Amino acid sequence: MEITPEKLCKYFGKVKAVDELDLDIGDREFVALLGPSGCGKTTTLLMIAGIYRPTSGYIKFDDRVVNHLLPKERNIGMVFQSYALYPHMTVFDNIAYPLKLKRTPRKEMRERVQRVADMMGIGDLLDRRPAQLSGGQQQRVAVARALVKEPAILLFDEPLSNLDAKLRLRMRGEIKRVQEDLGITSVYVTHDQAQL
Ligand SMILES: Nc1ncnc2c1ncn2[C@@H]1O[C@H](COP(=O)(O)OP(=O)(O)OP(=O)(O)O)[C@@H](O)[C@H]1O
Ligand SMILES: [Mg+2]
Repeated sequence: MEITPEKLCKYFGKVKAVDELDLDIGDREFVALLGPSGCGKTTTLLMIAGIYRPTSGYIKFDDRVVNHLLPKERNIGMVFQSYALYPHMTVFDNIAYPLKLKRTPRKEMRERVQRVADMMGIGDLLDRRPAQLSGGQQQRVAVARALVKEPAILLFDEPLSNLDAKLRLRMRGEIKRVQEDLGITSVYVTHDQAQL
C-alpha cells in the first residue's frame, strides 16, 4: 500500500502542528520520520490513522483519497508512544482485542494471537498482565496487537523514555525484521537520530 500525504495540514488554533506535508511512501517501504519534540510526528501518524481529521490537504492510500474514512475502515496497525496496553487484561486479551472487535471466531483468534506472539518472542507470556512485563516485553505486546489484524499499514510512534538505548536498538531491529518478512508499508517516527 502506498501512502501519500499531499499538502497535509493540522492546526490546533494558532499552532501549526503539521504544515503542508508532502510525502511519497512506497508499497512495502519502511520510512522513518525524524524530528525534534513537538515537530508534528504524532499528529502526522494520527492523521494517517484517521484519528485526527486534517485541517486541509489530502491523504491517499494507493490512488484513493482516504480523508473521509474512519480509523476502522483504514486497515492500520498502530503502536502508540505510550503502548496503551489495557492494564486489567492479560497479554492474550490485549493482543486479541482487535480481533474481538471484529467478532473473529474463538479458535481462529487463539491461533492468530499465538502466531504473532511467537513471532514477537512473547508466546509464553500470554497469561500475564502488562504490569508483570519488562518495558521491552510490553513493547512486543503492543507490536503483536498491531500485527494481529494483518494490517496493510503499520505506524510506530517511538516510545521516548520507556526503553533504554540498547533495548531500543534491539526492538528497532526486531520491528524491521518483522516488517520485511511481512512486507507491510510502515512509518516509524522518532526524535532520536541514533535510532536510524
Ligand atoms: N490536541 C492538541 N491540541 C493542541 N495542540 C496540540 C495538540 N496535539 C499536539 N499539539 C501541538 O502540536 C505540535 C505537534 O505535536 P506532536 O504531538 O505531533 O509532536 P511530536 O513531533 O509527536 O513530539 P514528541 O517527539 O514530543 O512526541 C506541538 O506543538 C503540540 O503542542
Ligand atoms: Mg509524539
